[in-house]
Amino acid sequence: MSFTVAIDGPAAAGKGTISRAVAEHFGFAHLDTGLLYRAVGIRALEIGRGIIDPAMAEKVARELTEAHIARHDLRSARAGQTASKVAALPAVRAALLDFQRRFARREGGAVLDGRDIGTVICPEAEVKLFVTASDAVRAQRRYEELQAAGADTTLEAVASELRQRDLRDSARDVAPMLRAEDAVLLDTSELSIDAAVTQAVAEITKKL
Ligand code: C5P
Repeated sequence: MSFTVAIDGPAAAGKGTISRAVAEHFGFAHLDTGLLYRAVGIRALEIGRGIIDPAMAEKVARELTEAHIARHDLRSARAGQTASKVAALPAVRAALLDFQRRFARREGGAVLDGRDIGTVICPEAEVKLFVTASDAVRAQRRYEELQAAGADTTLEAVASELRQRDLRDSARDVAPMLRAEDAVLLDTSELSIDAAVTQAVAEITKKL
């Protein structure tokens, strides 16, 4: 059987944590689609020695391999910013479409998290969640994550990075970040991880 759970929302709202937990709970495969754009951005930046050439970014997206996605430096703020720049290029998005759709329809169920999963990649997904949280809570969470990973940054810098990225992701012409009309809203501002996961599991159980 195939069963797709689409989880969208802005950066640092808790999508990744919720997606991993529900995938584990139901035994579904999980794809963090942000990693695809991060890997394309970082590789295109390296090849272009600091400058992103759109044609090169498209080529990188077409030739993306598991090894590129498994790099350890994709979680940095720089990778996030670069990802949101290449993610605004229609040819890059088109190059990554088939892979994501095949993943979504694989046997045994799949959870995909990103920005356009419920709207563009899998409009027919059995369950759609839009996970969000207040700007202040998201900035604080991302700041704590980066600090724990040893990054030298400030709360202000993290908040500003998230604002820029959210704006670019919501304002772009192609596949902007949007809540699908039939997506269930999950606001995690005042929820513990366990409570958020419990709500997500309940929504999926209803449809299974
Ligand atoms: O989710 P994450 O923060 O890793 O995503 C990095 C960037 O990749 C986002 O800011 C967004 O620009 C882009 N992205 C996207 N569509 C997706 C997933 C991520 O445009 N489905």
